[in-house]
Amino acid sequence: MNYITKKFFIILAILTCQNTFAQDNSYSGLDRAFISNQLRKSADQIKVLASLTPDDKFPQTFVNGKSVFSNSSWWCSGFYPGTLLLLSEGNNNDKELLKLATDKLKFLEKEQFNKSTHDLGFMLFCSFGNALRLTGDSSYYNPILINGAESLSSRYSPNTETIRSWDHGKWKYPVIIDNMMNLEFLTQLTKITGEKKYREIAIKHANKTLKNHFRKDYSSYHVIDYDPNTGVAIAKQTHQGAFDESAWARGQAWALYGYTMMYRETGEKVYLKQAERIAKYILNHPNLPKDLIPYWDFDKDKLPKESKAYSKKDLRDASAAALYASALIELSQFSRGKDSHNYLSKAASILKTLSSSEYFAKLGDNGGFLLKHSVGALPLNSEIDVPLSYADYYYVEALLRYEKLL
Ligand code: GLY
Repeated sequence: MNYITKKFFIILAILTCQNTFAQDNSYSGLDRAFISNQLRKSADQIKVLASLTPDDKFPQTFVNGKSVFSNSSWWCSGFYPGTLLLLSEGNNNDKELLKLATDKLKFLEKEQFNKSTHDLGFMLFCSFGNALRLTGDSSYYNPILINGAESLSSRYSPNTETIRSWDHGKWKYPVIIDNMMNLEFLTQLTKITGEKKYREIAIKHANKTLKNHFRKDYSSYHVIDYDPNTGVAIAKQTHQGAFDESAWARGQAWALYGYTMMYRETGEKVYLKQAERIAKYILNHPNLPKDLIPYWDFDKDKLPKESKAYSKKDLRDASAAALYASALIELSQFSRGKDSHNYLSKAASILKTLSSSEYFAKLGDNGGFLLKHSVGALPLNSEIDVPLSYADYYYVEALLRYEKLL
């Protein structure tokens, strides 16, 4: 190596170190005390929600001072019992929370036979899946989970190589990006039962979604409509985002979480690569606020003034942020070097913001929900700037995931 080359490498090494150091300086992670405190405050708050919830109902949201509850068939019915279970786990196996959860599960059981929705992963795996994991009661929970996985699999078509999301609407065979989240139920059920078809369906669905749901910049469409016979994508649209070509914030979260989870479940590098590309799209987006809580849609500024959503376009979505945090923590364990460090650091920042009084409710407020300021479906004028049960679920999941790394 001559003198000039040597000098070049020394300067390069110094610059690289400075870069890493700059990143380290900006990183201040969460400690155990912070997480335990949030888990305890969340347990106290969810007990308020429990006291307000009728036996056979499921908390959905809290709007204008009024609690809104759903039946078990609503796509979110598994999140409340799931959050109770996670909070029991995070609070030294709190028995009161466990009992509240298992009592509620009795009213959810019948959804194992529901073949009219793709949301059975949310409904049954976030709930019964966690119950099985925490109690080990396989004789009780396995049959429910197996029936549920059969119901979900019944919506798979070998023509489209996807699970059909909805039976309603103008579409022929709609598949939404959210559906990536239901695949974990299937891969896990293969592990539990040895039945290979569940995992095979999940992989086919993830591969087809990879092919059709993403744009060149790795943002995703919300709805892809398939020709049910040929499996060709015939329309690319939105239902809950600002417009068809926009990047709906929670849609990007389902994609990030979904491909990170599919990499964990299969070890397929293509899923990891996709998750990293989605993470970069989100984290490098010029419209992502400094506090990392996204607006409900990254393209909200391109909405026409006459659009109904325009006056509310600057709302944040805490549910998407909670999902980003949980997914980024997991992704940080698979990615290497400064990417890994960056993902964990960004997740910590999100969790700090969500734990601040701006987002985390005071005990007894917010109808007993943990987080304020989520957006369900702005263009449908539904659940706007309110608490949502899934924001709470993924917030608690993220706290627990982070705690396990400490
Ligand atoms: N469709 C599920 C969601 O609102 O994200």
